[in-house]
Amino acid sequence: MFITLEGPEGSGKTTQVPLLADFLRGRGHRVLTTREPGGTPIGDQIRQVLFSLDNKAMHPRSEILLFQASRAQLVETVIRPALAEGQLVLCDRYADSTLAYQGYGHGVDLGALREIIHFATGGLQPDLTIFLDIQVEEGLRRRDQGGDWNRLDDYQLDFHRRVRAGYLELIAAEPDRWLVINAAQPPDAVAAALQGALQQRLPLLG
Ligand code: TYD
Repeated sequence: MFITLEGPEGSGKTTQVPLLADFLRGRGHRVLTTREPGGTPIGDQIRQVLFSLDNKAMHPRSEILLFQASRAQLVETVIRPALAEGQLVLCDRYADSTLAYQGYGHGVDLGALREIIHFATGGLQPDLTIFLDIQVEEGLRRRDQGGDWNRLDDYQLDFHRRVRAGYLELIAAEPDRWLVINAAQPPDAVAAALQGALQQRLPLLG
């Protein structure tokens, strides 16, 4: 089973991934967690290029292709092998991030993005995608309280509003694939809500 996590900035995905992995292990799954961009030695180098404040001249098409290069490496060398040997893969961001950020956020044609994503992933799609939802202002406030600033953090409020609205469109188009969790609660309440929702959903996924 392949599960991805998505959400706007500051939605707390990074806190929830290990909690969710522990919960799933407790239910007997062998779980591999990873993230994008990155998750492989080559992907981690691409992540540095994408995030570096030295790279403000990066063209949007270069940015799109770098995300896909990292994704292709992760899919072929980590995700597909793990799925093939029966592990449950939990990935912090995946193709929906490209549609939400580069597509809805930056206005790049969604059809073109879907083709490039298909090329990068060989068509691998998640069985389930968890959306940790939070209002954009609250998410940015949380994000700005901690961590290092990177190139991608420079985008403004309007951009992030388009990203969140884009996610909501993706969810409306494919409601069966998504699980929407209110992330504007303390982390343990988010974890509990997520676990409760998954307990209902997982038996269906086999
Ligand atoms: P990261 O620091 O990993 O934080 P988080 O996932 O917790 O937000 O940042 C990843 C950034 O990359 C985030 O701003 C979303 C962006 N991104 C894209 O724009 N397109 C993509 O395809 C992916 C995977 C990420």
